[in-house]
Amino acid sequence: MKNIAVYPGTFDPVTNGHIDIIERGLQIFDEVIVAVAVSTDKQTLFPVEERIEMINSATEGLKNLRVESFDGLLIDFVKDVQAKAIIRGLRAVSDFEYEFQMAVTNRKLLKEVDTIFLMSTVKYSYLSSSIVKEVAKYGGDIEGMVPALVSKKLKEIYGTNKGGE
Ligand code: COA
Repeated sequence: MKNIAVYPGTFDPVTNGHIDIIERGLQIFDEVIVAVAVSTDKQTLFPVEERIEMINSATEGLKNLRVESFDGLLIDFVKDVQAKAIIRGLRAVSDFEYEFQMAVTNRKLLKEVDTIFLMSTVKYSYLSSSIVKEVAKYGGDIEGMVPALVSKKLKEIYGTNKGGE
């Protein structure tokens, strides 16, 4: 039986930090399913279809990877796809409390599933989707922070990138 892991998030939008976690997850598991949350507490900039499109474009060529949307409880999705683990990235100590709470709750809801934490690569440890959107909004340079299609879409929304060009 395949060792499948689910990597969930809002991905609004996906960043190079997320891609790093996806690539490293693929080295550990037979298959990784990126699960894009349809409804979250967050007011998203991109509709779910576009968030999926951006992940697909950035991961083209990666084998054993699927990108899907999910609505409702994460654990129901995990059960449906018969995954054994949830992957989450940890960037700093500040992520820990929230992640700990989610991991324990998910394990309470489905005891067969564990959450595996991957430490963010240092150069991405400061990144978040909100930071990227804020930099793009005020015309800063987002080069190196996000995949090409994300950069293109953010520039379309916020106008030309002034910071590094
Ligand atoms: N590199 C860059 N940024 C990263 C990162 C990394 N390696 N890891 C996390 N982040 C950022 C994200 O970009 C995001 O930034 P933002 O807050 O500016 O948008 C933030 O850290 C964390 O968000 P994300 O990883 O997208 O997760 P999330 O907290 O938005 O997603 C869900 C949470 C969707 C997984 C969770 O709410 C969920 O499972 N919801 C379904 C309902 C459910 O089951 N609830 C019970 C759970 S206990």
